[in-house]
Amino acid sequence: MTTSLILLAAGKGTRMNSELPKVLHPIAGDPMLVHAMAAGALLDPVHTIVVAGHGAEAVTEAVHAYDETAVVVVQTEQLGTAHAVNCARDALAGFDGTALVLYGDTPFVTPETLAAMVAATADADVVVLGFEAADPGRYGRLVMEGDSLERIVEFKDADATQRAITLCNSGVIACNAPLLFDLIAAVDTDNEAGEYYLTDIIGIARARGLRATAVTCQQAETLGINSRAELAQAETAFQIRARAILMEDGVTLQAPETVFLARDTVIGRDAYIEPHVVFGPGVTVESGATIRAFSHLEGCHVSRGAVVGPYARLRPGAELEENARVGNFVEIKNAVIAEGAKVNHLSYVGDAFVGAHANIGAGTVTCNYDGVTKHHTHIGARAFIGSNTMLVAPVSIGAGAMTGSGSVITSDVEPDALALARAPQVEKPGMARKIIDMLKAKKARSERSS
Ligand code: UD1
Ligand code: CA
Repeated sequence: MTTSLILLAAGKGTRMNSELPKVLHPIAGDPMLVHAMAAGALLDPVHTIVVAGHGAEAVTEAVHAYDETAVVVVQTEQLGTAHAVNCARDALAGFDGTALVLYGDTPFVTPETLAAMVAATADADVVVLGFEAADPGRYGRLVMEGDSLERIVEFKDADATQRAITLCNSGVIACNAPLLFDLIAAVDTDNEAGEYYLTDIIGIARARGLRATAVTCQQAETLGINSRAELAQAETAFQIRARAILMEDGVTLQAPETVFLARDTVIGRDAYIEPHVVFGPGVTVESGATIRAFSHLEGCHVSRGAVVGPYARLRPGAELEENARVGNFVEIKNAVIAEGAKVNHLSYVGDAFVGAHANIGAGTVTCNYDGVTKHHTHIGARAFIGSNTMLVAPVSIGAGAMTGSGSVITSDVEPDALALARAPQVEKPGMARKIIDMLKAKKARSERSS
């Protein structure tokens, strides 16, 4: 069955009290809208249409950063959820599969639930995602007769009996696309809010003798975000679930409550994660790697047997091959640390290649930036970089070469050569004693004269 997604993301989100459109506030490193898009993406949609409004430019940029093929349509005035869906009409012209309506501010609906809804369209013309609410509050209420969904009543328009219903509308709807737009054309604004309610399509469909039903899910999946407090709760909920999934998958988290994961973090079986590790977007850690305490990783790949940290920082483009070691207070950016190479202490390695089994001494810096352009440093296999070496890029150190501690290396070094680039040591016998005596005498004179 072919599916297309319509994501509603035009609302302002007044209660966020923010310059940033609500749907762009991040959870686990990605805009909440991207979480909803990612869940829908697993259905392999033909089209993905995002309905933007407030902050449409920023929303468009974020949408395309995640999925270049998604189409953004702009709803200039927010006249209601039916009006919002209607904005996707032209973009979906000619598409005859199932349209799935999602909300950009409801990030946790699972792909399994969405697949169940699409499957349910085999027996019903309109499928709504409902949930049993602990506190139904202001949610729309699902009026059921057996398996048949008769109508959805918005809280504002509901009478006391309808308000007593606890089966609520999540907002997610699945329906054949041409039928959806046909039903929406019949929606009016004759309600308490004066809005075009998408929920009205149920009553309209039933009046035409069409079938509607509800699929249900856990309330946690339908969590909508309206305020910073709810955003924080959503982050916590995400982290708790993501940590639990990793542990089920065979990853050790020594203190799970202190480890923060991104939406797309991938960690292999038998990896060992010590306390207080933060994963930004785009990290893959292979089986059997160890990430030690207080490390921060983003946009990087850590291979089998590699050890990172404690207190290490891996930035975008860091690629650690098997059994590589990156130790305390080391920053790696856009650099390969090849098999068995070691960067153990207090170093910056950026825009570089560090060959297999090379050893980078404490305090080494690849001076990659000249103020205008970034330059590359190449370090051959088994090279030994002495402590406190400055590698002024572009520069290449041959395989098996050495640099003397404290060297400032500005030209390429041949394989197996020793490069020294520091002032030669000079020794003046007795000079230290002379200087101390001279300074003491000077101090005594100035104390006498004051
Ligand atoms: C809606 C449902 C309600 C359901 C609830 C679940 C309707 C009429 N009501 O109510 O039954 O229980 O969601 O959270 O559908 N949006 C637009 N353009 C608009 C209006 C809304 O893009 O013109 C977007 C919003 O940004 C938001 C979503 O649609 O992401 C839902 O709109 P909102 O106004 O929050 O609907 P609710 O009143 O919560
Ligand atoms: Ca809402």
